[in-house]
Amino acid sequence: MKHIVLFASGSGSNAEKIAEYFTDVPNAEISLIVSNNPKAGVIERARKLHIPVLLFDRTTFYDTDRITQLLLNQDIDLIVLAGFMWLMPTDLVRAFPNKIVNIHPALLPKFGGKGMYGHFVHEAVAAAGETESGITIHYVNERYDEGQIIFQATCAVSHTDTPDDIARKVQALEHAHYPRVVADILASITK
Ligand code: GAR
Repeated sequence: MKHIVLFASGSGSNAEKIAEYFTDVPNAEISLIVSNNPKAGVIERARKLHIPVLLFDRTTFYDTDRITQLLLNQDIDLIVLAGFMWLMPTDLVRAFPNKIVNIHPALLPKFGGKGMYGHFVHEAVAAAGETESGITIHYVNERYDEGQIIFQATCAVSHTDTPDDIARKVQALEHAHYPRVVADILASITK
């Protein structure tokens, strides 16, 4: 059995899509959802999906190696960030080389970096008058949005699109592609 841990800070729609997808994938499961936000919608989604949740605070995450040790002790094959808004600490990145992936709601390397997350990304894309946006799935390193790109998909953006319009198009791409790409990455990992 292969084990995935999902990290999420917000609504958790991507986490839910991935969890639903993996109910039909043999020999793989979502073992845990971890979050930095006790008010995150993902917690209620996890409860309905019967997936355990681990909440942690900033001090635990950055000033101790408790999360890293816990994941190392759980035989985790892949860590999937699904709307997780904090930078991954160095010890965690080093403990799981090429085993942490993230989704970013734009076409990196454009519109990435510190402060570029969630709705801010769509506002920046609209303000820049871009004619396309999309999603980027990439490996995670110690810098925001700079790890090796694994997959991108695009959508057209028109000059009349609001940030909300762009968000809807991008989220549709995320839900359509992220679960399958995660499954492909997991399948390529040898135990
Ligand atoms: C998603 O659009 C994801 O790409 C973005 O947060 C949203 C979470 O939505 N992630 C980032 O901006 C990371 N830098 P969800 O909670 O409904 O899955």
